[in-house]
Amino acid sequence: MFQINNLKYKSILDITNVRIPKNQITCIIGESGSGKTTLIRLLNKLISPDEGTILYEGTHLSKIDSVELRRKVVMLPQAPAIYSGTVRDNLLIGLRFSEKPLASDPNLLNALQMVNLQKSLDQSSDKLSGGEKQRLALARVLLMDPEVFLLDEPSSALDEETEETIIMKLVEHCKNYNKSLIMVTHSKKIANQFADFIIEIKNGKIVNR
Ligand SMILES: Nc1ncnc2c1ncn2[C@@H]1O[C@H](COP(=O)(O)OP(=O)(O)OP(=O)(O)O)[C@@H](O)[C@H]1O
Ligand SMILES: [Mg+2]
Repeated sequence: MFQINNLKYKSILDITNVRIPKNQITCIIGESGSGKTTLIRLLNKLISPDEGTILYEGTHLSKIDSVELRRKVVMLPQAPAIYSGTVRDNLLIGLRFSEKPLASDPNLLNALQMVNLQKSLDQSSDKLSGGEKQRLALARVLLMDPEVFLLDEPSSALDEETEETIIMKLVEHCKNYNKSLIMVTHSKKIANQFADFIIEIKNGKIVNR
């Protein structure tokens, strides 16, 4: 699905060759500062390589319109923004930004259920805990229903049990609906349990496993 060749980005990443498979669960692991976020930002065309190429479905990313790409490949940043306003506002904002049709309340509630967040749609988002905000942002991305989820540590603020439950549901969702999931995780346990394919980065290079 994604094919990276001879990629260099500043002195941060140096990747000779990697293919990220479609409709599979790919986990990106590696220590803090190794280049994981930089890699997924490259895949979402938020930044561009200094050298080398990235292909998505056989097409050079530079030839794909950024807005068009980001309708298909949706990224959840490591520190997603939560806007003041209600839970509903925060769920709908991804769809608004990408100019997709808005979802009905039952669909919004369904997304909240996917991330185990039992809050009303009319509740203000200000009082949510850090982990609740993280789950709200994940639900927002689920509603956007992209072909590819690019998630940067989507469960970093969660306890181990909640993390496992939510990632399990997310993985199931991706398997059921033929989605591709590329997820940065600090948890080797999560990676080993759920990944079809693991990319380990060390000092900007992919470690052969
Ligand atoms: N725009 C930039 N300019 C210069 N250096 C940068 C830039 N963005 C990131 N870096 C540096 O590149 C390295 C990799 O950063 P990156 O955010 O990709 O790491 P990471 O693997 O996601 O780490 P973490 O697990 O802490 O989130 C870090 O040393 C960081 O300081
Ligand atoms: Mg990071």
